[in-house]
Amino acid sequence: MNYGSEIEKVLLTGKQIEIRTQELADEINRDYADKELLVVCILRGGVIFMADLFKRLTVDAEMDFLAVSSYGAGTTSSGEVKVMKDLSAPVDRKHILVIEDIIDTGITLSYIMEMLSARKPSSIKLCSLLDKPSRRKVDLFGDYVGFEIPNEFVVGYGLDYDEKFRNLPDVCVLSPSVYEKNN
Ligand code: PRP
Repeated sequence: MNYGSEIEKVLLTGKQIEIRTQELADEINRDYADKELLVVCILRGGVIFMADLFKRLTVDAEMDFLAVSSYGAGTTSSGEVKVMKDLSAPVDRKHILVIEDIIDTGITLSYIMEMLSARKPSSIKLCSLLDKPSRRKVDLFGDYVGFEIPNEFVVGYGLDYDEKFRNLPDVCVLSPSVYEKNN
C-alpha cells in the first residue's frame, strides 16, 4: 500500500498481522478449550485487533468494552488513567482476556489489570497486538503478544495520532514531521 508523506514506512503489513492473529487465536483456543471466555476490548485502539481475533476464536466467548483515557493529543503518556466507559456486566467467575493494541509504558494496562482483578474474575490475562518493551515504566507483561516493536511512533490498524490513521490496514511508522509541527 502506498501512503503519503505523513507515513514514513510500513512496519507490519495487514497480511503479517492476519497470520500472527491466527497464531494467537490458535494458542488462545487451546488455553481456554474448556472455559468460558470474556474478551474485554480496550477502546478505542484495540477494536480492530479484537474484531479480527474474536472471529477466529472457537471457544465460548463473550465480548465487552472498556474505555479509558491516558493520552492527550500528543505522543506521550500523561500517566493519568480515567475510566470513560466501564464494562456492561459483572466479571465474577469469568475468565477475562484483555485485548489491547499496544503496551507502551504499561501504565494504562497495569491500572486496568489491577482494576479488573479487584472484581474477582476466575482468571485474567492480557493479549496485545504490539509491545514496546523498551518504553516500559512499570512491571507488566503481555500473556499473548503479537509483535515486539522498536520505539517508534506507530499508527494504523486501530492506532491513532490525534484520532487520525486508525483506518490504515497496516501498522505504520508516523513521519516525525507530523508530530513535530504540533509540538
Ligand atoms: C493507547 C493504547 C493503550 C495505551 C498504551 O491508548 O491503546 O491503551 O495507550 O500506553 P501505555 O502502555 O503507555 O499506558 P490511547 O490512550 O492512545 O487511546 P486509544 O486506544 O483510544 O487510541
